[in-house]
Amino acid sequence: MKIRAAVLEEFGQPLVVQEIDLAGPRPGEVLVRLEACGVCHTDLYTASGADPSGYAPTVLGHEGAGIVEAIGEGVESVRPGDRVLTLFSPQCRECLHCRSDRTNLCLAIREQQNLGFLPDGTTRLSRDGEPIRHFMGTSAFAEATVLPEIAVAKVDPAAPPDVVCTLACGATTGIGAALYVAHVEPGSTCAVFGAGLVGLGAVAGCKLAGAERIICFDMSEERLAMARAQGATDTFVGGAGAVDQVLELTGGFGADYTFEATGNVKVMRQAVECARMGWGLCTVAGVAGKGETLDVVPRYLITGRRIAGASFGGAKGRDRVPELARLYLDGKLDLESFITHHRPLDGVNDAFELMERQDGIRTVLTF
Ligand code: CU
Ligand code: ZN
Repeated sequence: MKIRAAVLEEFGQPLVVQEIDLAGPRPGEVLVRLEACGVCHTDLYTASGADPSGYAPTVLGHEGAGIVEAIGEGVESVRPGDRVLTLFSPQCRECLHCRSDRTNLCLAIREQQNLGFLPDGTTRLSRDGEPIRHFMGTSAFAEATVLPEIAVAKVDPAAPPDVVCTLACGATTGIGAALYVAHVEPGSTCAVFGAGLVGLGAVAGCKLAGAERIICFDMSEERLAMARAQGATDTFVGGAGAVDQVLELTGGFGADYTFEATGNVKVMRQAVECARMGWGLCTVAGVAGKGETLDVVPRYLITGRRIAGASFGGAKGRDRVPELARLYLDGKLDLESFITHHRPLDGVNDAFELMERQDGIRTVLTF
């Protein structure tokens, strides 16, 4: 079938929205008619050419929501008409990691996915007979896409796609850091560095978990106001004094749980240093630049602080994403305020510009 899609033709150049071909689903795959897709930093990072493992041409986009239109042979967990979110982090439920509750890093299709292929080593996307590679196994800046069955999460059909699509990456990364990685306990004190979508998600996750005090840092007053709306109790403009500010608020001990959501390794160090002695846990959710290292004075660890990290908030997507969508539908999670802009597919480059200017939190493309 013919679909319109935003193709990365050349690094550092605007995406080109155009008509390309999408083949039907093969065994174990599903064809999803996309309704909405959030625009995430990873898309921009790859488009810029800064990611050494990036490739082109490819269709970007990995925060998609849509309706299953067709299924390949052997697919049993979804049916045509189901509303699903795309999962760049799949869940096969069979591999060693999927069977462990300690990680969400499914091993089933990693190699082919990283190279831009579906699990059988081919693509469903093409143009004039030439293959176009898939991005993050999702390629959701498009009217439709084909994914492995293990890379879709079935959500309540009542979940609005242009809102819950944020659960396909950014929101879950933050909420999950609090719920599934740190396992924040009721009554605890948390400190969150960064109030972009991931940081705001972490604040929301801490709140959901029953944290008593949530301290949040960001460079923008506007974002700090959003953090307060999500449940932050104390907010500050970030800077060199952040560690002391947390110590001051916690009787000199530090926070039970700290979260880093900026990707800046200097801020990560602050998040480690303001974790409480004895049991403070620092969870790194931000993605640092390739080759950057985190500087930690070992004494901080000897005195009982720990550092954790996870991709996609440690969430096993097919299990957790539907639960989070349910929390949204039940009014326990405010996802709507994360979405500050809407654009049509043709506005994808505009969405990148908004992100570069740090204008708003999330732009959602609707198709
Ligand atoms: Cu993302
Ligand atoms: Zn697996």
